[in-house]
Amino acid sequence: MSRKLITINQVSQYVGQEVTIGSWVANKSGKGKIAFLQLRDGTAFFQAVAFKPNFIEKFGEEEGTARFDLIKRLSQESSVYVTGIVKEDDRSKFGYELDITDIELIGDSQDYPITPKEHGTDFLMDNRHLWLRSRKQVAIQQIRNAIIYATYDFFDQNGFIKFDSPILSGNAAEDSTELFETDYFGQPAYLSQSGQLYLEAGAMALGRVFDFGPVFRAEKSKTRRHLTEFWMMDAEYSFLTHDESLDLQEAYVKALIQGVIDRAPQALETLERDVDLLKSYIDQPFKRVSYDDAVTLLQAHEHDEDADYEHMEHGDDFGSPHETWISNYFGVPTFIVNYPASFKAFYMKPVPGNPERVLCADLLAPEGYGEIIGGSMREDDYEALVAKMDALGMDKSEYEFYLDLRKYGSVPHGGFGIGIERMVTFVAGTKHIREAIPFPRMLHRIKP
Ligand code: 4AD
Ligand code: MG
Repeated sequence: MSRKLITINQVSQYVGQEVTIGSWVANKSGKGKIAFLQLRDGTAFFQAVAFKPNFIEKFGEEEGTARFDLIKRLSQESSVYVTGIVKEDDRSKFGYELDITDIELIGDSQDYPITPKEHGTDFLMDNRHLWLRSRKQVAIQQIRNAIIYATYDFFDQNGFIKFDSPILSGNAAEDSTELFETDYFGQPAYLSQSGQLYLEAGAMALGRVFDFGPVFRAEKSKTRRHLTEFWMMDAEYSFLTHDESLDLQEAYVKALIQGVIDRAPQALETLERDVDLLKSYIDQPFKRVSYDDAVTLLQAHEHDEDADYEHMEHGDDFGSPHETWISNYFGVPTFIVNYPASFKAFYMKPVPGNPERVLCADLLAPEGYGEIIGGSMREDDYEALVAKMDALGMDKSEYEFYLDLRKYGSVPHGGFGIGIERMVTFVAGTKHIREAIPFPRMLHRIKP
């Protein structure tokens, strides 16, 4: 009889049938005539049970005992083809169990370093290539995958074209102090910090565009929100107003949360994420508050008991304690709009009648997860953009292509960028961004 090879997440379709599953032994227990294997194959974890008398009945005393002993000797993370009959099992959370009829060892595993006991973070990070196999890490990667798929779905449904920006670039997109420089055949080149400037060219060619790729920031910050390499999705669109842009961003973030609830419900359960709380963010409108109103609010509450942030003046930038307090205060994702031009990027368009402030928004996630989106309207007037770049002492010859976009049929346009790992951290409810990407790159971490 030929084998029926399936994955663990397909077992519900095979109740009562004999199937084979390629998997790893996550854990093992049992005694005497019975052995329990916790199997994992990337789609799910579930339990398989071997009962010695069944083996002896099927294979005879000697061969049956040998096969059963093989199961009892299996070590953590050895790989196996397990064959068995799928049973419904109300006692387990998963709802199914496998009654093992045969087993074949594929790859042995001796002294697997990550045991079921607690390990320190440095140890786990040194073994990231193996840590990725653990239940919680698998769940986080499933959530990341759901967010990526929901992103493509959302933009496709909203008439956006995927338009990928280059990774190697001749100029800075965001902040020239945080560039990774490399040698490009004798000329300096930089790793992209954001695809935005190129995406603006795409928006003039295709109307609505988005990109998705790795970006790099040589930030010396050692926080639970910063990576030096992370994945950004930027969207850029012609003809929209700033309010329309905020509507789009809100719909997008809600679609991402819904996408995870739909596609990765077990992952949320594994991580014990409060799904009702996530749903409440979909059901309520996001808060929109201006930078100046937010500063006034912070000043008014700075002596409150729960206010562990420093006093700030209008014109100062927020620190993460300020952001955390604001998002907790509103309890829903909150857009802070119209920041001071002084600490935002050169390309942002001023608020009409208020050149000190720019038409931009940062979206702060609730529960202290910090900024997940940064976006703005772009300066679309050639003269105004040149004046701004001159005032900042920028070398315009580096940005000729960008200025051209304002020379040939310039239109109002704007866009935003989301850090996928920040979004994953928020939806998964994990504490540190390092778990949201398979191989995190941080200030003191480039291996494995
Ligand atoms: O706010 P940022 O710097 O905005 C831009 O780069 C714009 N050019 C985007 C655009 O308008 N197209 O970065 C966007 C997002 C942040 O809101 C945050 O989620 C994430 O990227 N981010 C980081 N994520 C992880 N580690 C870091 N060091 C990050 N820096 C920014
Ligand atoms: Mg930002």
